[in-house]
Amino acid sequence: MAAEELQRIDGNQELHRKILPYCRVKPGEVWEDPEGRHRVAVIDATDAHAVENLFAGERAVLMVQDPPYNVEVGGMQSDALSRLEITSYIDFSRRWIEAALPALAKDAYFYIWIGADQKRSFQPLPEVMMLMRGFPELAAKSFITLRNQRGYGTLSNWMSVRQELLCYVKGKPGFTVQYTNQPKKVAGYYKKVGGVRKENLARGRSHTLRAGNVWTDIQQVFYRMEENVPGAYAQKPLAALRRIISSGSRSGEVVADFFAHSGTTLLAAEILERRCFTCDIDPVFAELTIRRLERFRQKGKTGWQWKSPFPEIM
Ligand SMILES: C[S@@+](CC[C@H](N)C(=O)[O-])C[C@H]1O[C@@H](n2cnc3c(N)ncnc32)[C@H](O)[C@@H]1O
Repeated sequence: MAAEELQRIDGNQELHRKILPYCRVKPGEVWEDPEGRHRVAVIDATDAHAVENLFAGERAVLMVQDPPYNVEVGGMQSDALSRLEITSYIDFSRRWIEAALPALAKDAYFYIWIGADQKRSFQPLPEVMMLMRGFPELAAKSFITLRNQRGYGTLSNWMSVRQELLCYVKGKPGFTVQYTNQPKKVAGYYKKVGGVRKENLARGRSHTLRAGNVWTDIQQVFYRMEENVPGAYAQKPLAALRRIISSGSRSGEVVADFFAHSGTTLLAAEILERRCFTCDIDPVFAELTIRRLERFRQKGKTGWQWKSPFPEIM
């Protein structure tokens, strides 16, 4: 079986240095989609002026933020992904959230993916939850968990970092119910309709389950999946972004993500005909995001599986 040809770009300075000349967006710049829909910037998410410049007066009805989790992914410290003192990490979090809030529409969703390190008292999840209480314009709405195949048990090879999804709302945004592909199997949730006892299986309009707050039907990305992007170490499943964006926004509206990485939010926005304003502090990940969009437009493919997105260097 072929392994990924491209190693983690963040952890390999030599590789990073080789790719940099091929990155078309320089620090401080904003790439405008030639088709007029999306924007990709290379900026620091904590820089309020740069964020304002990215939005240029427009507002997002939904943000899905996936900051670094203050953990070492795969035991590797890198510039963009490292473990800080928790107080410094919370200070960083406060600054990017403060920069994001002015760009939210009056009625909007604000999602944050956040880790909980089981080896370090579940940090930083509880600290981030406490921090969020300091933003009264955002009301807590849901706490979603994705399935993790090796999250329980086995001594070796288990995932010590959980990954959770917090959902907050500003104002009163609309919501479109999302269904899974999981068939309804469990009877017993009956109620009387017109004096007749009706089971949920007979009552519901759909034969599949609504998405609840544990998404067992969505799995983490791994290299055998077409959507895999080699070189990216923290890619989110496209199916999760599709669900989030479909439920909380409408065609043509702006969604945003300040930590683009492999560009999953932007790709989901493209597929669902939304607009996406996104950024990454690292020009290499901004380039990867743009290339993923371009490749999707040309070939209909959502990733490279294990082929390199940077053929110039390998
Ligand atoms: C956990 S990854 C995001 C994964 C993404 N959701 C996906 O599906 O590919 C975090 C990203 O944040 C970027 N990053 C780290 N610090 C940043 C900052 N201050 N501003 C903007 N981006 C930053 C990193 O370069 C990295 O690409």
